[in-house]
Amino acid sequence: MINVAENLIYQPKNLLLTYPSDWYIQQDTLKAVKNSINPIVDFYEESGTNSPKPTELDKIIDEPLKDVYTVPFFSTKFCEILLDEMKHLESFFGFKPNPEEDNLRQIPEITFQDNCPQIFQSLMQTIYTIGNPIFLNIWNRHVDGGGIQIANYNLKDKKQGAWHHDASADISMVVPLNTGEYKGGGTEFLKRGTVEPLPTGHALIFPSFTHMHRGLAVESGDRYLLVFWLTCNEE
Ligand SMILES: [Fe+2]
Repeated sequence: MINVAENLIYQPKNLLLTYPSDWYIQQDTLKAVKNSINPIVDFYEESGTNSPKPTELDKIIDEPLKDVYTVPFFSTKFCEILLDEMKHLESFFGFKPNPEEDNLRQIPEITFQDNCPQIFQSLMQTIYTIGNPIFLNIWNRHVDGGGIQIANYNLKDKKQGAWHHDASADISMVVPLNTGEYKGGGTEFLKRGTVEPLPTGHALIFPSFTHMHRGLAVESGDRYLLVFWLTCNEE
């Protein structure tokens, strides 16, 4: 993918964002992940011969629409620091639509893997250690790669997304960074329904292939989303 800012690499001003740690994660979720590892590993090692046992994660993962899940993920402190970094990064790059996508699908975006590899590594580490137990708990799938973007929906640049699948991913995860600072927003899933904007740091998780969706119109302000397009390449 060609990004207009492909040759520019951003150096984070807050180095805490380059060292993944427990404080990134919502505390109840961190505890539930730790307490769910044993039953998840047992099920995995038994190759599905026994049914999965209940886990602490079952209690904090919600399913507002069929096969659309939500879970508290990043701490509000982490979101606050990341958003501050994003505003700094935004002034460095400016949010630019991807010129390879057709006009309807273009939203202002910055790709971490291209523009900020240090924060990309840090976020992917968090996906492997916290996201994977959650994905294993939901689908018995785990991810081993993917891309991460920051999207900014606003009235001036792009207030609403078009219907689409996240074509390059297996699992999509979207995390709002500043709920309450904009009006409107939320995500609509075709023939399934609408999920209202989640609290800051909560993850919306769904299978990329089956769930056609669109971002709903922002009425005022900037809606910052952290978007993960995750891939499962295992045999
Ligand atoms: Fe999407």
